[in-house]
Amino acid sequence: MSRVVILTGAGISAESGLGTFRAENGLWAQHRVEDVATPEGFRADPALVHRFYNMRRAESAGADPNEAHRALARLEAELDGGVTIVTQNVDDLHERGGAQNIIHMHGALAGSLCAACDHRWPSAFETTPADLCPHCATPNTRPDIVWFGEMPYQMDRIFGLLQDAEIFAAIGTSGNVYPAAGFAHEARRSGAHTVELNLEPSMVVNDFVETRFGPATRTVPEWVAELLG
Ligand code: APR
Repeated sequence: MSRVVILTGAGISAESGLGTFRAENGLWAQHRVEDVATPEGFRADPALVHRFYNMRRAESAGADPNEAHRALARLEAELDGGVTIVTQNVDDLHERGGAQNIIHMHGALAGSLCAACDHRWPSAFETTPADLCPHCATPNTRPDIVWFGEMPYQMDRIFGLLQDAEIFAAIGTSGNVYPAAGFAHEARRSGAHTVELNLEPSMVVNDFVETRFGPATRTVPEWVAELLG
């Protein structure tokens, strides 16, 4: 049970220097989603997909958590009743910012998955299609990332959290991708206070009773300071 459930998206890591997806120069302006973020794309050209996630893993390693990540870790440490961060992000900036109670619903760059036997293990910094699965010893290594057309992780647990939450916040996400874009509606239906902290109104801004616009490194520490009173 968590009093506060927080959904984060690429926008919370933007000020750490990591690209978002749908900005002008975003990741989906540089790479075709179907080539690097679908099971079909992986089957067609696994080397391209490994290179894409090797590049993102290197960028993530070169980035530092920012004041927004650190403010959420403070909230988790100091607020009675519990905080759960449900992140769409695959970087490890929440962890490196000090948070612990994190659900990576779209997977994580830190993980590898075997496309043949579903074994999971900590990813090497650089991976290739030739890497053997430590469990079944076949060359079916893929990033443990949830691609378009695949089911995000821990959805039952997340919906349980949304039903029990007193506060639901969404930070740095455009509301373009379901099921995450539907979380505010779900939480509000169960009586949670919903707040959007984003650079600009998201596609689902009307699902929130409270909105705070601006860069996350300003809006999140302010919001956390108020919650911790
Ligand atoms: N502070 C706060 N919000 C910001 C900042 C910032 N400094 N910079 C950008 N944003 C906001 C943008 O206004 C936008 O609404 O972050 C949001 C980023 O939106 P997207 O690029 O669509 O990223 P996200 O919502 O995380 O995408 C969701 O889509 O492609 C899939 O799996 C991928 O997890 C990703 C999912």
